[in-house]
Amino acid sequence: MRIVLGVTGGIAAYKAALLLRMMTEDGHEVHVVPTESALKFVGKPTWEALSGRPVYNDTFEAVEDVNHVLQGRKADLVIIAPATAHSIAKAAGGLASDLIGNILLTATVPVVMAPAMHTEMWENPATQENVATLRRRGVHVIEPAVGRLTGADTGKGRFPEPEDIWAQAQEIVNQSPPRDLLAGKHIVISSGGTREALDPVRYIGNRSSGKQGVALAQVAARQGAQVTLIAGAMDIPAPEHPNIEVVNIESTRELLDAVLHHARHKDALIMAAAVADFRPSNVTTDKIKKEDGWSAPSIVLEQTEDVLKTAVEQRAAGEPLPEVIVGFAAETGDDTTTPLDYGRAKLQRKGCEMLVVNEVGVGKVFGQDDNDVTILFADGSAEIPVQGSKTVVAQAIISQLANALA
Ligand code: CTP
Repeated sequence: MRIVLGVTGGIAAYKAALLLRMMTEDGHEVHVVPTESALKFVGKPTWEALSGRPVYNDTFEAVEDVNHVLQGRKADLVIIAPATAHSIAKAAGGLASDLIGNILLTATVPVVMAPAMHTEMWENPATQENVATLRRRGVHVIEPAVGRLTGADTGKGRFPEPEDIWAQAQEIVNQSPPRDLLAGKHIVISSGGTREALDPVRYIGNRSSGKQGVALAQVAARQGAQVTLIAGAMDIPAPEHPNIEVVNIESTRELLDAVLHHARHKDALIMAAAVADFRPSNVTTDKIKKEDGWSAPSIVLEQTEDVLKTAVEQRAAGEPLPEVIVGFAAETGDDTTTPLDYGRAKLQRKGCEMLVVNEVGVGKVFGQDDNDVTILFADGSAEIPVQGSKTVVAQAIISQLANALA
């Protein structure tokens, strides 16, 4: 593959030379783009000798090739290693002050950043917020290693070993489907948790963070789809992307209305939302008050609508709802039944085309950055296990969805 290796100005630049050698030895075409300050640590001749190609680091070199746009577009992968606190801040701010900044703004391929800095710089809220911003936009920022730093000090912030960076980068590329898989398609994705009001102040909710639904919206948009993201309560902001329209909902009833309205004449519906199964049967218009020192009200619940099942049923009744409907199943399993068996039964019961089963429990899945799922298919296709970040899982789901729509 064609790789752009952006090297920014930190002492770990010398280790990026080892990473470069590893990639070229594996037969890849690597274009090294150092920043000015990176060249103070390792000079151009080293990068040119190890990559076997000319090295440009100035936006105004090789302008006849529109280098700043082409490098990002033509590559299969962009790796920034080491990524200094300054370069992470520049990328988060979208600055195009040097060639690598331009490449990052034009890249439509996976971008991997391997940070290297002192622990204080890594832990600084400015850096942490910049990293969170980049991750939200789909950049893969690898966790720095813990260990010896430049001086005698040790801590988190150490440049990950070149073998680890290369292994992770390859996994990310392998999991990422070819581009424009969903060009011309319109996908509706529900995300986050629903909230069922008890009174004007209180509600019954759940632990959904919305991370998996947001990752799906980002990956689908990157694959050229138009996305309607129906967002319940989420811990993270909805993604900003020209192809993503966000519709906010709170309760299951609102979710049902939004899905039945927005999914009409669309190509696919992915129900990643964690939907309440029960809601208080009475919602008071005034706040429920304590009557005396001992009073505690009983809450009577009723079942909510099953949005996924309703969509499948209405489609069967002739409504123009998507030909591919994907459900999620959050299962804990029990003494007699595995989460996967519960998932297989749920796929039958819900009548959708695909079901993504994940095992949930204390500290598992909800709010976490990683996920461990199995994709099941109603047509009997082989089940696909996927492990990795929620972006990696989203890529696998989107590529299966694209197959189903092809
Ligand atoms: N779902 C839905 N409407 C509901 C409940 C769930 O549309 N009222 C959708 C979810 O978005 C998910 C799928 O159905 O895609 C399965 O959700 P899950 O909570 O795992 O299943 P339940 O239907 O609640 O079934 P059970 O209580 O038996 O686990």
